[in-house]
Amino acid sequence: MNILVLGSGGREHAICWKLKQSPLLNKLVIAPGNAGTASLGKNSDVKPDDFQAVRKLVLEEDIEMVVVGPEVPLVKGIHDFFLEDPDLAGIHVIGPQKQAAQLEGSKDFAKDFMNRHQIPTAAHKSFTVNTLEEGKTYLETQNSPFVLKADGLAAGKGVLIIHELKEAKEELSAMLLDAKFGQASTTVVVEEFLSGIELSCFVLTDGENHKILPFAKDYKRIGEGDTGLNTGGMGAISPVPFMDAEFEEKIRTRIVERTIQGLKKDDIPYQGFIFIGLIKVGTDPYVIEYNVRLGDPETEVILPRIKSDLIRLFKSLAEGNLEKENLEIDDRFACTVMAVSGGYPGTYEKGKQIHGLDNVEGAIVFHAGTRVQENRTVTNGGRVMAFTSLDTDMNQALSISYDNLAKVEFDGMNYRKDIGFDL
Ligand code: AMP
Ligand code: GLY
Repeated sequence: MNILVLGSGGREHAICWKLKQSPLLNKLVIAPGNAGTASLGKNSDVKPDDFQAVRKLVLEEDIEMVVVGPEVPLVKGIHDFFLEDPDLAGIHVIGPQKQAAQLEGSKDFAKDFMNRHQIPTAAHKSFTVNTLEEGKTYLETQNSPFVLKADGLAAGKGVLIIHELKEAKEELSAMLLDAKFGQASTTVVVEEFLSGIELSCFVLTDGENHKILPFAKDYKRIGEGDTGLNTGGMGAISPVPFMDAEFEEKIRTRIVERTIQGLKKDDIPYQGFIFIGLIKVGTDPYVIEYNVRLGDPETEVILPRIKSDLIRLFKSLAEGNLEKENLEIDDRFACTVMAVSGGYPGTYEKGKQIHGLDNVEGAIVFHAGTRVQENRTVTNGGRVMAFTSLDTDMNQALSISYDNLAKVEFDGMNYRKDIGFDL
């Protein structure tokens, strides 16, 4: 099969790495890809949300399946674009259509969906510029901390957690009146604050049947001990040690099954991954958010634990036969630690040469922000490379990643030394 993977992060390198293991793969093209994907297939300098350019590439390369990594092309309707074009309609797209992608593209849509289908989530109310005063009055009735969320996509930056009521009111105004997050904050969701430990749940579905993939925990803050600014993710671990059978059963029945049933009841087709951001409050799971794609860096620990053939799974998914597939999971722990550019998640420089990659042993390096420049691998983003290791012992897996991180360097390289500290 000829497959195009859209995206350029560690997630996409991990997807390519896994696809490459399948005997069903004929040709692998990645747009735009990174230095890691370049060693597995052919990188093409096409932007995932430039649908006409993607169309041209798909036809030129005789692509039969497109795996969409990031959310933006899905929210913009790339799957619908394929279905509406007679030349593309037969090509499988892994990732939901625009309507379902609203689960990530609009927090207001997602909250309504959860309430409609009795899926546990924080209580909320949504406001627009016309209801700003009501919003401020509503905040007065809520307890601190206040959670304010821009409705639309804001590259992971649209959530504010604020302790002072006065500041919460000011931020609500800034979001609605001054378009603090642009179009994304035309509507703002004000939410009850939930306190607990977060985890990520991944589901693969053809809209009818589903498979729950390994759970993972990611580390979003830049600083050790979960301090400092939010990032795209600094590391991840799978499985999640605090998961027990009872908690897993609650996730399955109260959240995953109601989500799949809800999509069916609402007549919303879905072929792809659902990433459910969960929080464990006491002994109960609540949904923090839906994403319509895999997580990054969670993918870098989930896919190495899946033994089943990913192309087979994707093919069955696209054909609506997912129920006949058996998902085989490696019992070992997978841990990943992300090396980032100095200054990230603030401003950082690119183009720093990466040294020592040939010395890596026993770990898998998934490239994120890297590119090849005159035969050298250089940095090309904030998150640069994820070091993944597997072992029956979580701490041993972490040590393998850390030992290998010590062999690699680039100017300004930074990483968290405490991934897994809370487990
Ligand atoms: P989101 O973009 O919705 O995942 O939110 C980003 C982060 O904000 C989450 O990973 C949580 O750490 C935090 N967060 C979001 N909503 C809540 C909430 N209702 N209560 C507590 N923390 C939250
Ligand atoms: N690791 C969180 C995300 O991919 O959104």
